[in-house]
Amino acid sequence: MATTVIKGGTIVTADLTYTSDLKIEGGKIIEIGENLSGDTTLDASGCYVMPGGIDPHTHLEMPFMGTYSSDNFDSGTRAALSGGTTMVVDFALPAPEQSLLEALQMWDNKSTMAHCDYSFHMAITWWGEQVFNEMETVVRERGINTFKHFMAYKGALMVNDDEMFASFQRCAELGALPLVHAENGDVVATLQQKLLAEGNNGPEAHAYSRPPEVEGEATNRAIMIADMAGVPVYIVHTSSEQAHEAIRRARQNGIRAYGEPLIQHLTLDDSEYYHHDWDHSARRVMSPPFRDKKHQDSLWAGLASGSLQVVATDHCAFTTDQKRTGMGDFTKIPNGTGGLEDRMPMLWTYGVNTGRLTMNEFVAVTSTNIAKILNIYPKKGAVLVGADADLVVWDPAKEKTISAANQESAIDYNVFEGKHVKGLPRFTLTRGRVAVDDGKVIPAQGHGQFVKREPFQAVNKALSTWKELTAPRKVERTGIPVSGV
Ligand code: URP
Ligand code: ZN
Ligand code: ZN
Ligand code: ZN
Repeated sequence: MATTVIKGGTIVTADLTYTSDLKIEGGKIIEIGENLSGDTTLDASGCYVMPGGIDPHTHLEMPFMGTYSSDNFDSGTRAALSGGTTMVVDFALPAPEQSLLEALQMWDNKSTMAHCDYSFHMAITWWGEQVFNEMETVVRERGINTFKHFMAYKGALMVNDDEMFASFQRCAELGALPLVHAENGDVVATLQQKLLAEGNNGPEAHAYSRPPEVEGEATNRAIMIADMAGVPVYIVHTSSEQAHEAIRRARQNGIRAYGEPLIQHLTLDDSEYYHHDWDHSARRVMSPPFRDKKHQDSLWAGLASGSLQVVATDHCAFTTDQKRTGMGDFTKIPNGTGGLEDRMPMLWTYGVNTGRLTMNEFVAVTSTNIAKILNIYPKKGAVLVGADADLVVWDPAKEKTISAANQESAIDYNVFEGKHVKGLPRFTLTRGRVAVDDGKVIPAQGHGQFVKREPFQAVNKALSTWKELTAPRKVERTGIPVSGV
């Protein structure tokens, strides 16, 4: 089998930085050491050799708000690779009353175009005996160990507390991890109607209808419900101090709660919604909305201190035309923004180059932490012999100005337009295949493989042992009660 050697670079992982060559064969890392040679040599001098990024939150070709998101597994995974991300995890979304397995089949069909590896989370969008039963098949046979719950999008994807509690308990039994979109959907729906009635129909009203308290309340509720169910919980797109505070407090109290800020919330703020151009603001409508700048400090602090673990994108890209369906009624603007291509360069530029994050923390929050949380470490998220050769050769001196004019994403704008980034891939490798060479994507549709994820053993076992030990027990009393004693 042909071998590839990455030569002359500095290997950077979540916990180590050292100079070494690295040899790849059959899609895996087979040797790490000095003076290696192989059939092909990639020059990594002046570069950092890091685990490829994992984006655990994408919506490619997602049916949502009467349309489909415009990046599919073809353009979406090309965009990912271009920015150094070598694996994406997308959400399979059953329609109301639809079988989970049928929804998975639809996502299987879409993902055959992928240029890099991928996996799925399964969404719980309704509740019933069929869902309860199929969850076991999803975990045991399909290799999916995460279930997403939406506390917002009332009348569409939203589930209620009783449904969420039932599903969380099922997750606990199956060794699965619940994920939560935490916003109080009832309050949002009421505020939306109030704002519209008052004539507030522009994209800025999207932000007014989803204040940070809506997110803080729901985050706390989700964490408490998970704790009662005896299961860890992962909060997606944590955007505010209120939500971060709930996660931080829970973790201090011994609860396994994880938080995932997005690169958008770390670097963009709510002033985008007050732009004079309707299109500019509508293109940035997503949930939760961009926040006042002060929330950014909280999110960065969480990444540095470990109270937040993962940086994702929630990549859900709609064209300007699609956004315009919400002209005159902000509640009809398809929710979602892009970011797959820009997550790593933006985080490096605004995180590592500013001293907010170390290089090792960068690797942790873009790759290694989520690989561990999703139970795919060290196949992914590691630079170790035996690991998949999903790697990025990162050139800290390479620069560009982000522009929709030269992006892989299929949409006609970029929310980071004009941002100058320093730190970009020289090479991106997906299972040993060079997919990006000096900024140029070398496509291979269908190269991407589905990554199966085993149920969790350790944490779920620990929590269920503790739950059993502390379960309510009937007090056995003897004799006849004597009143007044
Ligand atoms: O606005 C967003 N985030 N759109 C995608 C769906 C979701 O809530 O994650
Ligand atoms: Zn969401
Ligand atoms: Zn999402
Ligand atoms: Zn520059």
